[in-house]
Amino acid sequence: MDMQEQMNFIHEIFSAQLPRLGAGDDASTKKALAMMLETKSSAGKDFRSRKLRVLDIGCGNGGQTIRLAKDIAGTILAVDNHQPYLDELQRRAEAAGVADKIRTRLKDMHDLGPEEGVFDLIWCEGAIFIMGFRAGLTAWRPMLAADGLLAIGEITWFRPDAPAACRRFFAGEYPAMTDVSANLAMIRACGYKEIGHFPLPESAWWDLYYNPLGARLPALRAQHAADPEKMAMLAAIQTEIDLYRKYSAYYGHVFFLMQRD
Ligand SMILES: C[S@@+](CC[C@H](N)C(=O)[O-])C[C@H]1O[C@@H](n2cnc3c(N)ncnc32)[C@H](O)[C@@H]1O
Repeated sequence: MDMQEQMNFIHEIFSAQLPRLGAGDDASTKKALAMMLETKSSAGKDFRSRKLRVLDIGCGNGGQTIRLAKDIAGTILAVDNHQPYLDELQRRAEAAGVADKIRTRLKDMHDLGPEEGVFDLIWCEGAIFIMGFRAGLTAWRPMLAADGLLAIGEITWFRPDAPAACRRFFAGEYPAMTDVSANLAMIRACGYKEIGHFPLPESAWWDLYYNPLGARLPALRAQHAADPEKMAMLAAIQTEIDLYRKYSAYYGHVFFLMQRD
């Protein structure tokens, strides 16, 4: 399989019809947003009183975008590099009655720049790993207003003593994955001050992400049984789900909330 075939298969596995494409839930997005909106702007007021310009990076099919649109005054530019996810986001936004607040744009997150504009709030749930935590923080800072806010949901180690099977898997899948204190240090080093951070509950992995994704795997295995490369990709996803079932005490998804310093 070449890179394009691999990507096509990833998009077949991670169908736009799945409820979400990464760990997350409405309650966690809402909690993170409430913490952000209480932050003081440079004018000394909180962000609740402002019409916000929001950028949602790696928005997928809109898991967090629709929630944000319901809870903010302002507009959201939702960016992803896969058009079927953006189409599904648009459909869900219309069904939820918030389509007038959301614009979608097909774009690679590596190529975001001044032409996208300046934002009061940048949101990225479960997608900064594509660039790397430090690279994302560095690249997106100039796109924020002087007192702008950044919310990142990132997979993070909770403990230093994760079992070898777990360490080995993430050494292959995401070698740059680190712990809370290292991420907080990167936040400061990249020119932000921390507003807060909190881990997502385990239910945010299962209810809208791993359970529906896992339910797709048997049919995909049956369909692609003759293709060892596709079977290996499906096995890696099953391993990831099984590891989380066993070792969720050792790592999880953390919301990191910060303001441009
Ligand atoms: C783990 S999913 C998270 C999606 C969504 N935020 C959620 O939590 O349901 C990562 C998303 O990043 C998108 N993505 C991957 N590489 C990208 C890139 N280079 N530029 C923009 N989006 C990208 C994927 O299409 C996918 O929608």
